[in-house]
Amino acid sequence: MIYTISSHTFVIEISIYWRRRLLVLGIETSCDETAASVVSSDKTILSNIVYSQMQDHLPYGGVVPEIAARSHLVYLKDVINQALEQAHLTLKDIDAIAVTAGPGLIGGVMVGVMTAKSIAAVHEKPFIAINHLEGHALTARLTDNVPFPFILLLISGGHCQFILAKALGIYEILGQTMDDAVGEAFDKTAQLLELDYPGGPAIEKLAKHGNPNRFTLSKPLKRKPGCDLSFSGLKTAVRQIIEHEIKNDQDRADIAASFQQTIAETLGDRLTNCLTLHGLGITDLVIAGGVAANQYLRQKLEDVATNHQKRLVVPPPALCTDNAAMIAWAGLERLAAGYVSQLDFTPRPRWPLAEIKNEV
Ligand code: KG4
Ligand code: ZN
Repeated sequence: MIYTISSHTFVIEISIYWRRRLLVLGIETSCDETAASVVSSDKTILSNIVYSQMQDHLPYGGVVPEIAARSHLVYLKDVINQALEQAHLTLKDIDAIAVTAGPGLIGGVMVGVMTAKSIAAVHEKPFIAINHLEGHALTARLTDNVPFPFILLLISGGHCQFILAKALGIYEILGQTMDDAVGEAFDKTAQLLELDYPGGPAIEKLAKHGNPNRFTLSKPLKRKPGCDLSFSGLKTAVRQIIEHEIKNDQDRADIAASFQQTIAETLGDRLTNCLTLHGLGITDLVIAGGVAANQYLRQKLEDVATNHQKRLVVPPPALCTDNAAMIAWAGLERLAAGYVSQLDFTPRPRWPLAEIKNEV
């Protein structure tokens, strides 16, 4: 395989990849986590450093793209150095640099991509542009050896999709949200309840003290055919209850619990449709993305998976929320398949999974 860096051409013998343990440095800067990680081809996470910029964005109740980009610029160098130190490695030992090249907040993505390209050029290593969603999708192959094909429910702050992962880089969207992402619904509800950002963990904590049957909320698209989702109506219903009926701490806990239960029932209903329509020949259901860290939702979705005789795989919470180990792992899968990127790869703020190319 020929790999080109500006005017230099390096010949990489794919066969050597299979003979020794490969090490990939992953970089993630697409939202408000500045992250770097080293992962090896034998599925060992040698380091996984995540610097959360949460405090920088807290006063604004959400991520401010300009602040995020500037913070990545400030923190990324140290985060990469820490990842290498913790792995007891230097850049010389690394076989390739993988970086989130989209989708995401473009300022932050560019900081990560330019850093990765510079390291790759200076150290003469392959550069691998990773789709952030593919990073989430492939995590279960790192943690639980999930074989292709599998069905993935990706639930994060920006995405809410059912995906059929057929092979590396080949993904079919089976259904998706028509409006808000589920994480966004958690974050907006949390904001209405004046809880800190990110809202998901705060709602989950509050809901533990609440009665999930206290408030009846509409269940978007329930019992409708297909596996698309919608959360904007639910958001409006929650806002009305919060504005008119919430008087004390118990009310707040009850609406948090009722909201979370409605989300669980909605996802469960859609998942049932998805597995009925597309589950034939599939053994594994994977749930990934930040919202997958929610234990209550996880339990409800596990019940649905069990009813359909599927194994439910949910990576550990630290690998469900944004991290660079998933990017390094996606890089390893691509490197092993011989798919590396050119240094003129343009970062993509919008990059649907179905548009991934297996570039050589
Ligand atoms: O995957 P992620 O870290 O970033 C994106 O790519 O969006 O997901 C972040 C989202 C946020 O909306 C956050 O509120 C949500 O995941 N989240 C949760 C939980 N932990 C994080 N939602 C519900 N329950 C949680 N425990
Ligand atoms: Zn994410």
